[in-house]
Amino acid sequence: MNKGSKILTLFLVSLLVSSSVVPLEARKHHHNKKSKHQKQRGGGKGSGSSPAPAPLPDYNQTQSTIFNILSFGAKGNGVFDDSKALIAAWTAACKIPGATLQIPPDYKFLIKPITLNGPCMPQLVLQIDGDVLAPPKVSSWSKSSLFQWLNFKWLHNFTIGGSGTVDGQGFNWWTVSTLYNNKKKGKHVPDMKPTALRFYSSYNVTVRDITIINSPQCHLKFDNSGNVKVDNITISSPESSPNTDGIHLQNTQDVEIQHSNIGCGDDCVSIQTGCSNIHIHHINCGPGHGISLGGLGKDKSVACVSNIVVENISIQNTLSGVRIKTWQGGVGSVKNVSFSNIQVSDVKVPIMIDQYYCDKYRCKNQTGAVAISGIKYDQIIGSYTVQPIHLACSSQIPCIDVDLIGIQLNPSSGSRGFQSALCWNSYGKSQAPLVPSSIDYCLRRGSGAVRRIARSHDHACY
Ligand SMILES: *[C@@H]1O[C@H](CO)[C@@H](O)[C@H](O)[C@H]1NC(C)=O
Ligand SMILES: *[C@@H]1O[C@H](CO)[C@@H](O)[C@H](O)[C@H]1NC(C)=O
Ligand SMILES: *[C@@H]1O[C@H](CO)[C@@H](O)[C@H](O)[C@H]1NC(C)=O
Ligand SMILES: *[C@@H]1O[C@H](CO)[C@@H](O)[C@H](O)[C@H]1NC(C)=O
Ligand SMILES: *[C@@H]1O[C@H](CO)[C@@H](O)[C@H](O)[C@H]1NC(C)=O
Ligand SMILES: *[C@@H]1O[C@H](CO)[C@@H](O)[C@H](O)[C@H]1NC(C)=O
Ligand SMILES: *[C@@H]1O[C@H](CO)[C@@H](O)[C@H](O)[C@H]1NC(C)=O
Repeated sequence: MNKGSKILTLFLVSLLVSSSVVPLEARKHHHNKKSKHQKQRGGGKGSGSSPAPAPLPDYNQTQSTIFNILSFGAKGNGVFDDSKALIAAWTAACKIPGATLQIPPDYKFLIKPITLNGPCMPQLVLQIDGDVLAPPKVSSWSKSSLFQWLNFKWLHNFTIGGSGTVDGQGFNWWTVSTLYNNKKKGKHVPDMKPTALRFYSSYNVTVRDITIINSPQCHLKFDNSGNVKVDNITISSPESSPNTDGIHLQNTQDVEIQHSNIGCGDDCVSIQTGCSNIHIHHINCGPGHGISLGGLGKDKSVACVSNIVVENISIQNTLSGVRIKTWQGGVGSVKNVSFSNIQVSDVKVPIMIDQYYCDKYRCKNQTGAVAISGIKYDQIIGSYTVQPIHLACSSQIPCIDVDLIGIQLNPSSGSRGFQSALCWNSYGKSQAPLVPSSIDYCLRRGSGAVRRIARSHDHACY
């Protein structure tokens, strides 16, 4: 930014300061509140005399809903701790319907782990056009802050937008050599690593346009939430960064994720227990682990996932393409899942069900499993490097109503020693074209007895 535009920015900022104070003042003077509000609606501040009730766009009214973080003491130099300024701006904006909290472009705001909570007046927008940076040193995170960096809680009708970047600066968390001070355990990297952005108990929230990079762990998480939209965002962290999921959903319903680019070290999208009505489309995924349902049913827990649609997406250079993974011994069900129009390129195993999921070398064999039924794979096309299909269903509870339609998977050029399709205890039907032809004989035909076994395990989710 040159000097001229800096001065212009400062000038605009000072304008915003004066205007953003108005609604606050209006609220401070309680007895005066109503008349001031009416004044603003009528003719905007200063004019006062025009009572015109016409709902024309009122420039000053719009201005008075803007809260710029720089007006609340932020320095935006990437070094000064701007957390207090962000909280102050949030507190002010939260009280005004239709307010916008601005994180302006060309500045870097260092923000410590914070919670921005509601309830707020509806249609609050957090407009991130600048850079928001997490503390880069592992040791500067307190033990109680390790769950997440930016925690959005109890919000309704809330939007995050803008062309800015939320940067978790996670490099130090990814290497084992980084040490963390802990009196009891000595120096180590804590097991729990923060999620960059987390929404908790929030409804009708939209996250659009922004870029989220280099989270210590998960980039964007929704938990115990509903009616979520994610649109046109970019998520990126190195392929080598461990456990860095792109988007993580848990106990969250009615979600649409679209038009986004996600590449990280773990799942592009991870769907956990309690999720239903999830629609993912037009996204680019890779590198990473692909799109995953699970791991579900860990430690004999109940898992319920249903009504998932993943369509019109492309996946490159990932461990799996579309995957369902469950631990042995779990309870509950995964049902009514559709994966269609998926273009894969250099994906190790494009289609995978793994009911023997284990995150260490060996896990104890357990009885019981999360029951899997109604899984459709339709038009999954492209290249794999290890195995086209791997359906390892529980030996005790078969997967039923698995459909394989128009699967065309060829080994990547240069890959050698690949394996043929595997289906274990998987029942359903397939429909040509099917490449390689081993897919054709993979599934078993379901019988009434098989259905009865599967259904008898599917009651924990009602
Ligand atoms: C908006 O505010 C400015 C100064 O704050 C004032 O000059 C202008 O007349 C106002 N516009 C309207 C439409 O009220
Ligand atoms: C959210 O917005 C909708 C539509 O504008 C409104 O009906 C609803 O009451 C709002 N919810 C909250 C909690 O503000
Ligand atoms: C959800 O929020 C958006 C934007 O904040 C708003 O336009 C819409 O009316 C809200 N819908 C519901 C059902 O609350
Ligand atoms: C997507 O987000 C970028 C900013 O990151 C913006 O420039 C672009 O206009 C957005 N696209 C749409 C269709 O909204
Ligand atoms: C399956 O999921 C789709 C998409 O969410 C939904 O429209 C449909 O009603 C569901 N089917 C059943 C039987 O629940
Ligand atoms: C996905 O692509 C199919 C086939 O082109 C189309 O029918 C469907 O409407 C698309 N889905 C979305 C959500 O755009
Ligand atoms: C679990 O069962 C499988 C198949 O019966 C067997 O091959 C494997 O060794 C068992 N694993 C353990 C850890 O007991």
